[in-house]
Amino acid sequence: MKQRKGIILAGGSATRLYPLTLAISKQIMPVYDKPMIYYPLSVLMEAEIREVLIISTPRDIVTFENLLGDGSQWGMHFEYKIQEKPNGLAEAFLIGEEFIGNSNVTMILGDNMFYGEHLVEILKRANKREDEATIFGYLVKDPTAYGVVEIDQDGHAVSIEEKPEIPKSNYAVPGLYFYTNEVVKIAKAIQPSARGELEITSVNEEYMKRGKLKVEKLGRGITWFDTGTHDALLETASFVQTIEKRQGMQVCCPEEIAYNNGWINKQELLALSEKYIKTEYGMYLKELAENKY
Ligand code: G1P
Repeated sequence: MKQRKGIILAGGSATRLYPLTLAISKQIMPVYDKPMIYYPLSVLMEAEIREVLIISTPRDIVTFENLLGDGSQWGMHFEYKIQEKPNGLAEAFLIGEEFIGNSNVTMILGDNMFYGEHLVEILKRANKREDEATIFGYLVKDPTAYGVVEIDQDGHAVSIEEKPEIPKSNYAVPGLYFYTNEVVKIAKAIQPSARGELEITSVNEEYMKRGKLKVEKLGRGITWFDTGTHDALLETASFVQTIEKRQGMQVCCPEEIAYNNGWINKQELLALSEKYIKTEYGMYLKELAENKY
């Protein structure tokens, strides 16, 4: 089987974050000590996905290219594509068709952040599931702002709805989707919703109809944030700061994950650390290379 590929969708106009996002992309905003996109990128890396397509707006794509380059600094490969208009999340698979080729593909939204014990095992398990799609279910008090999924005894979806007024369960669907290669064909066949978008929920519905939509529950040991409002942005930053200060361990540090995955060696990590040596981030990388953690 070919290596699974990854897509980060970092588009949209982020009107809920105005005026912060009047001139720059939401997914480049600081979340404590790193740009927001480092967090979803780290999730793909933890899932051992090495080839990633970054999709953003005509205005912002250059910023991401400047930030992340071709990925070789972390032993990865990055490509970039533009989404002309916010036509919906599922459009990513049409934009990414050539990049996806005949691989399976995982998409993560550029403003979603995950952190927690056992997350890596869950991600690796989803990566290895080659014949069906995996989405996640996260218990929230009020799921009406999200995709909402009902799950049967053996972890398959029985209903899935986008932002329902009367939710059938409290399981929200976070913006992380592991799909088979069929997703390109499925995305081509779906129709725009009432709000005129190609909905990711329509893609999930199609997998569900085929009996191929596995839902992994993310339990209380796992934190999921979507950083789409001013409060959510600040809360996420505080969360990262709390853990990093208390434990002295980085949250979602691409250099560290690349090193642990064996994608870069000690010398390369040391060289990367020099760039940031005036910061705690740089010191952390240096100490990591010197086996302190
Ligand atoms: C999107 C999806 C929704 C999902 C959410 C996760 O909603 O449409 O199903 O639960 O992302 O962040 P949006 O935030 O684009 O309204």
